[in-house]
Amino acid sequence: MTTSRTLRDRLVDRLVAERAVTSAEVEAVLREVPRELFLPGVPLELVYADDVVVTKRDEDGRALSSASAPGLVADMLRMTRARPGQRILEIGTATGVNACYLSRLVGPEGRVYTVEIDPDFAEGAGRGLAAAGADNVVTVLGDGEYGVPEAAPFDAVEVTAQAGDIAAAWLDQLNPASGRLVVPLTLRGLSRTFAFRPEGDHWVADEQLPSGFVPIRGEGARAQRGIALLGGDEAAELRVDDDQPADAQALRAAFAAPAHQEWTGVTLPAHDRSLLHLDFWLAASLERYGRFVNVGPSVGAGPGPLGWTLPFGTSATWDRDTVAYVTLRQNGLTDFELGVWAHGPRRAAMAADLAAQVRHWDRRRRGGPEPVVRAYRAGTPDHRLAPGRVVDRPHTRMVIG
Ligand SMILES: C[S@@+](CC[C@H](N)C(=O)[O-])C[C@H]1O[C@@H](n2cnc3c(N)ncnc32)[C@H](O)[C@@H]1O
Repeated sequence: MTTSRTLRDRLVDRLVAERAVTSAEVEAVLREVPRELFLPGVPLELVYADDVVVTKRDEDGRALSSASAPGLVADMLRMTRARPGQRILEIGTATGVNACYLSRLVGPEGRVYTVEIDPDFAEGAGRGLAAAGADNVVTVLGDGEYGVPEAAPFDAVEVTAQAGDIAAAWLDQLNPASGRLVVPLTLRGLSRTFAFRPEGDHWVADEQLPSGFVPIRGEGARAQRGIALLGGDEAAELRVDDDQPADAQALRAAFAAPAHQEWTGVTLPAHDRSLLHLDFWLAASLERYGRFVNVGPSVGAGPGPLGWTLPFGTSATWDRDTVAYVTLRQNGLTDFELGVWAHGPRRAAMAADLAAQVRHWDRRRRGGPEPVVRAYRAGTPDHRLAPGRVVDRPHTRMVIG
């Protein structure tokens, strides 16, 4: 029988080889902690797969809690930069395994405070942490929106649920000179984990990675609007931030009519990460930006409006009665060509505009740095913000520059 130790080493060897783990400290804790202590009853092969293990779903089957995929956990630990002696706040304890990794990184002189909103997890996490000997972890049952003020300041706050905003308490409770905030945010429909550090009167993200987490619950929960545009096996919806106007009925009517297709001549090899760069760049450039997301069973199944785009959707824009989105078609054996499909009365003009943006990105921006995200407190006047696309949320003004 393959032992936990062997499976763990095999997983970490693979993550190191794929450069998903690049920090020696993170590698060491991944090799030390027996993940099965936090996932009782889950077969060892699944415990040590580089995949998420969902541990609770709602009545519609949507994940409410999980142990995140080890590769993503490793990336976030690296972004958190936890060091011996530090004090870390984690939001979203779930199984407790990440709190245990943090506990090893900060060592006996450090402390980890981890907050979980769901009472179903507190006990199990506590048992796992005790069995792993993580006695420098304090588990708190409550809404992470408020942090743990009595234990502040923290050297880092690591949020492990998908947030729509940066809670004021997280910023208030960070060390003002050096505290790092690692948080998965949904911005204009795009879901990325950002690592922020303080810079004067605001925070700037010095790292980011594409990711998706279970949504944050409680006071900070934020619904995303989804406008169903296609039904059946290819069901797809347009996800828009609720501060962006969109007439669902008019856009559905537009979508029922055939598309105008415009191909850009811009090509990419399969699995090219520059598509992520294009998405982010368009999110910053377009007045109205959202994600057209496949929600039917044929995700990534092949040609068709969304078939070849990433499983987590494609960039879209719209006006009152016309909608356009970026798509791909196969070009030769390994490459894809970017195109734009548009539906509605102004489809030809909107497709031409969006295709021009894609060509502009290809000529001028492709391969360049990612747009930089800065977070300011709500109420910061416009003239104090860096240039860029402003996304206003209850607690923060985010600028994608
Ligand atoms: C993806 S899981 C966390 C993964 C985990 N840290 C690990 O070790 O892999 C997200 C967790 O956040 C919790 N959560 C959601 N909203 C929360 C909130 N407002 N405060 C605290 N926990 C929350 C969920 O109940 C869920 O258990």
